[in-house]
Amino acid sequence: MADKGKFAHYMLKEIFEQPQGLRDTIAPRVSLKDGTVRLEEVRIGEDELKALRRINIVASGTSRHAGMAGQYMIQDLVNVPVDVDYASEFEYRNPLIGRGELTIVITQSGETADTTAAQREARAKGSRTIAISNVVDSTIAREADGVIYTHAGPEISIASTKAFTAQMAVLFLFALYLGQVRGKLSKDQVRRYISELLELPKKVETVLESAPDCERLADKYHKMESFLFLGRASHYPVAMDGALKLKEVSYVHAEGYPTGEVKHGPNALIDENLPVVIIATCDRNDLGSLLRYQKNVANIKGFKQQSGRVFAIASQGDEEMRQMADHTIFMPQASELLLPILEIVPLQLFAYYMAVRKGLDVDRPRNLVKSVTLE
Ligand code: BG6
Repeated sequence: MADKGKFAHYMLKEIFEQPQGLRDTIAPRVSLKDGTVRLEEVRIGEDELKALRRINIVASGTSRHAGMAGQYMIQDLVNVPVDVDYASEFEYRNPLIGRGELTIVITQSGETADTTAAQREARAKGSRTIAISNVVDSTIAREADGVIYTHAGPEISIASTKAFTAQMAVLFLFALYLGQVRGKLSKDQVRRYISELLELPKKVETVLESAPDCERLADKYHKMESFLFLGRASHYPVAMDGALKLKEVSYVHAEGYPTGEVKHGPNALIDENLPVVIIATCDRNDLGSLLRYQKNVANIKGFKQQSGRVFAIASQGDEEMRQMADHTIFMPQASELLLPILEIVPLQLFAYYMAVRKGLDVDRPRNLVKSVTLE
């Protein structure tokens, strides 16, 4: 798997490997027939999981954005409070954690120094730890009480893509497992979520068909000097990672922001020189999602009045959005907590094509390394 094959760059190959990485990460751990999730590698007893008072998630870069998505998954499905921290900040926060708490460390490489230090700090304070890693027997995986491996295959490109979507799938599996152990989720509920998880790889393949649209957008916008990426609720982590991808590989400034926060400052920036990329999907079976969608529509109308240019990630069939936004990429229907796994794909592709259009070294961006093993 560690060569580019027919692809021009590892990043593009790894973006297109996401359906397989999701299949390999999800399938071995679920039983649709029984309506159960099995995570033997967790190696923390069910009694301890039942007694958990709080979960801390600690990671760096793209892995932390996966943790942000996991916070919505675990809090919504299991009602256990979750905090998310930068690994590099964790030690300065004098984290008030200890026995009866779980720290989940998310790391593609399993070797990031900040994340290794954070896990050691959490363990020293008495917290149990689970590592979510893409590298078997990595340092962080070895030092954790339990480990849940992503099976995304070797990720060579410095910008993380297939590991990110696999990490979010693992966090969703963990939320289902925890909900099952704590009696929060019935077998029928778990079965419904499992069947949606099993359909996800096919939906990612559908979204990958938007690659030519993303390439055209990069061609149109490759001279822009800054972008604002916006998302609400479980879509906010997607906005954060879309912005990070663009910065990492195309050296174009980009900021991820909660959509609702734009009126408290960033709105002053929005005009024809600052394109807005907004996640404006809608799970029509979810009232909260419908209400958030209405707010997003109001935001977009406001941006258009400020002669802002809007690139929307919307739901299939949303003809209103097609009329309103300057460009729209459509997502297949999925539930609110799983839409992020689809929504990030066009943003990965956009960042990739921007870097290619600018003639940059896509897989090895300047000043960055795949795993920062020194603090
Ligand atoms: C950065 C990588 O150096 O480290 C990012 O360029 C990555 O892609 C971050 O998200 C964290 O790395 P890891 O291996 O701990 O997930």
